[in-house]
Amino acid sequence: MSKRIVVTGVAGFVGSNLGKHLLNRGYSVVGIDDLSAGTRENVDGRVEFHQLDIRSPEIHPVIAGAHAVFHLAGKTSLVDCIKKPLEAASLNVIGTLNVLEAARQGKVIKFIYADTSAEYEGIHVFPTPETNIHPVGVYAASKHGGATFCESYRDLHGMKVTIVRYFNVYGPAQDWRRVIPPVMASFILRMLRGERPMIYGTGEKRRDFIYVDDVNDLHLRILEDARADGHIFNIGSGVNYSVNEIYHLVEELLKTGLQPIYKEDLPGEAEITQADITAAKSLGWAPRINIKEGLIRTIRYLESKVAASSANKAGA
Ligand SMILES: NC(=O)c1ccc[n+]([C@@H]2O[C@H](COP(=O)([O-])OP(=O)(O)OC[C@H]3O[C@@H](n4cnc5c(N)ncnc54)[C@H](O)[C@@H]3O)[C@@H](O)[C@H]2O)c1
Repeated sequence: MSKRIVVTGVAGFVGSNLGKHLLNRGYSVVGIDDLSAGTRENVDGRVEFHQLDIRSPEIHPVIAGAHAVFHLAGKTSLVDCIKKPLEAASLNVIGTLNVLEAARQGKVIKFIYADTSAEYEGIHVFPTPETNIHPVGVYAASKHGGATFCESYRDLHGMKVTIVRYFNVYGPAQDWRRVIPPVMASFILRMLRGERPMIYGTGEKRRDFIYVDDVNDLHLRILEDARADGHIFNIGSGVNYSVNEIYHLVEELLKTGLQPIYKEDLPGEAEITQADITAAKSLGWAPRINIKEGLIRTIRYLESKVAASSANKAGA
């Protein structure tokens, strides 16, 4: 029988793509999501789906006996976290603790926690290795709280916990419906609709972007390689691009002639991110999708969504 893997946040961006990866690899996938940000249409039909809040006791029987849990559910919008810090802590700290406790009681073998490069907000070493962190903002502090409990369960209960710190993940199923969508989805969508893209600040902030399939390739290695147990891994590409450079790359592909509109900077965003990926490479992993290929795939996905929503409006 195939191993049962639980994915929390399975209706979200990374979680929905992870669900497909695991299914294609022959695992059976159980998904948990309260659909507060994710959508049911993101979830592969083969996933055993449970619409539950990660803070609820009802997740315990769903998680019990699984081979592994990938814990991805959480509050991910920086702006929302600043506006609602108690809610951010409730989801990202208490929610994580409830998932950990369900995994411990349910004798789950492996636990993989989706942490963030925001842990490095106060660190100015680039590329940034996993060794030192300095979370500053509400989102970073709340994700750090969750990570600290993961380490506590690893050390106290001997759980096989792996922490992965994602840099800027992009690709299909990224939440393009948000008021302020993530940078690539935002540019592509506006430009496909014939609108000028918006850049917050000068556009000179530099980000390490990693395509979602590369992230999930590393997830599979971590699941299947005992050398990953107990360790922390950056997941990034190791190179970074400015927001202005991303605009030019998208424009090269779409050829719209639309110039960006520069708006007031958003609060709480790091100036530079760049991952040191030496640790992840030691597992035999390396990013395979370069930025141009990743953008082409993302454009194709968003084109299909824009076409579908125009068709719906026309039919309404
Ligand atoms: N996408 C990135 O670039 C990135 C970078 C760093 C870290 N991360 C982390 O990776 C994880 C996944 O990120 P994503 O981009 O897929 O985010 P996402 O917002 O697309 O997905 C998160 C999912 O969690 C669900 N959720 C929220 N609260 C919940 C609750 N109380 N109970 C059950 N489900 C709940 C949402 O409905 C959503 O489907 C998050 O933990 C995030 O902090 C993401």
